[in-house]
Amino acid sequence: MSFTAESEKPMSRSRAADSLAVAGLVLLGIVPAIFGSVRLRQITGGIATADNARFLAMPWPVVVHIVGAVLFALPGAFQFSAELRRRRMEWHRLAGVILVPCGLAVSLSGLWMAQFYPSVALDGVAVYWMRIVVGVMMTVALWLGVSAVRRGDIGAHRAWMMRAYALGMGAGTQVFTHVPLMIAPVAQERAVESHRHGCGVGHQRARRRVLHPAIRAPQSGG
Ligand code: HEM
Repeated sequence: MSFTAESEKPMSRSRAADSLAVAGLVLLGIVPAIFGSVRLRQITGGIATADNARFLAMPWPVVVHIVGAVLFALPGAFQFSAELRRRRMEWHRLAGVILVPCGLAVSLSGLWMAQFYPSVALDGVAVYWMRIVVGVMMTVALWLGVSAVRRGDIGAHRAWMMRAYALGMGAGTQVFTHVPLMIAPVAQERAVESHRHGCGVGHQRARRRVLHPAIRAPQSGG
């Protein structure tokens, strides 16, 4: 009857949306996972390249980061399937007990690397602060997500876990913007040059204003 058809339609649509969302998240996590596996292979094999000296000198933070990130990003995507939660809540709980420490390992090791690894040419002050802010926010979001589920507030748990995952994936997918620059040395040189030029121009203007207070910032435009 039409009643059955009506009630089945939204269900099948939501199943499709559910699978699509999980597939999209897995796809998003695959690229950093591949890059991470290549990096792990280099580190465990002691293979030195131009850009991995800092990882070889102190491997544990990046190893913890990559292993945690692959687990958090890929199996973590299935935590967002409402269908899976409905049918296998015990799986969701068990996975959560493993994935939350993985998420914390990712954010805390990320913060450690941002602070202590020597920065590379492409990573300026903005990248440093972005990593610090994202790392702290991700840690806090995971913490609040766990606190919410412990007091039975499922709405808040869902919201904080979505934020934690989104923050982590935002940082993890930096690879999408960095890789074109790494494989195209000309683009890399231009990026570094324009960064230096931008800082240089900003610095000169600031210096002129400090040394000559009479020089005022333009009221509008350039
Ligand atoms: C699930 C999310 C994440 C994934 C999949 C991920 C993945 C990766 C991978 C594969 C690397 C190695 C890059 C290379 O070989 O050059 C890396 C490095 C790094 N990640 Fe993440 N990451 C994630 C989240 C974060 C977060 C939240 C932070 C912020 C604190 C962060 C900060 C860093 C830093 C500082 C490095 C070292 C970069 C360098 O020195 O070149 N990551 N990440």
